Amino acid sequence: MTDAAYLDWNATAPLRTEVIAAMSAALARCGNPSSVHRWGRAQRQAVEQARAAVAALVGARPDGVIFTSGGSEANHLALHGAYHRSLLVSAIEHDSVRAAAEGATSIPVQRSGVVALDALEQLVAAARPPSLVSLMLANNETGVIQPVAEAAAIAHRHGALLHCDGIQAAGKIPLALEALGADLLSLSAHKIGGPQGVGALVLRGDLALTPMLSGGGQERGRRAGTENVPGIVGFGVAVQLAANRGDSICIAGLRDEAQARLTALAPDARVFGVEADRLPNTLCLSMPDVPAATQVMALDLAGVMVSAGAACSSGKVRPSHVLAAMGAPPEDAQSAIRISLGWSTEASEIDRLVEAWGALYRRTRAEAA
Ligand SMILES: Cc1ncc(COP(=O)(O)O)c(C=O)c1O
Repeated sequence: MTDAAYLDWNATAPLRTEVIAAMSAALARCGNPSSVHRWGRAQRQAVEQARAAVAALVGARPDGVIFTSGGSEANHLALHGAYHRSLLVSAIEHDSVRAAAEGATSIPVQRSGVVALDALEQLVAAARPPSLVSLMLANNETGVIQPVAEAAAIAHRHGALLHCDGIQAAGKIPLALEALGADLLSLSAHKIGGPQGVGALVLRGDLALTPMLSGGGQERGRRAGTENVPGIVGFGVAVQLAANRGDSICIAGLRDEAQARLTALAPDARVFGVEADRLPNTLCLSMPDVPAATQVMALDLAGVMVSAGAACSSGKVRPSHVLAAMGAPPEDAQSAIRISLGWSTEASEIDRLVEAWGALYRRTRAEAA
């Protein structure tokens, strides 16, 4: 059995070895990609190679890729940059979308966690002038996959644009801009084995975007600031690896095994999003009457790293807006944890999780008896 089980891949994935090598080489180089001399040109070439790789991952044009400081900035750029009218945002979006969309109309989701397309149709039809719709491809807490192509068709029928946060979906399920019909797509490197602090907003077609940062004219005037060359290089390598590997199938097997073993141990456990299509790596489940923070700490003591299902920032667990939007009673939502797997997850890590979670379950039930 391994010393520790890292089952928090939706929070961040480990850097791929190839990414570390490419970034180390980039860190050792000097040169500003905007400089016209040879060192500058070499850096420019590295950035453009990464841009082509990101574009290829999602079937976009390289000039549609805008590098940002991560997924949160990409989401903000999409909503602030393309938003000049009304805004419709699904009730389960990541906080970086919700924060950028203050005053937006919320699109409800069904109990399964899937967005209510009929409600979207009504809201988008009623929006005057036409709106920007923001709908993620896969939810970070439950893994539930959203019908983005259908939502985009509805949006377009009413003259609206669609932004898709593809950050959790990238590298786990196919992600093609054209098939999704999304006009704007956000990506983040650190969810797919690239570095933290770099991401991209990808545009379909010639969408005019108001920049949030102005200055040096980088990124075709859409995002000023000297490029994070090592980060962008690492991102480029990570997307190439993500595109070329088929790890998802074995991850799904391990996730399903974890789900079956945990729910067999705890028949009162609830799995969120189980009625819908989910990412192959994500499992969100509750241990009734045991706060998520207690579970996360007990698992950590046993060497198992997971997240509270509820949004957890600065160590504080807040009630999950995602589970609330799915109609989960607060007591269920407060006892939900998120287990997320990745390409190097081993069966022994699942054994360790099942053992530690099962021990906690038995202990709490014995105490309550
Ligand atoms: C769905 C989703 N959107 C956006 C973000 C933010 O990305 P970043 O951490 O790169 O700012 C995350 C990160 O957890 C996420 O899961």
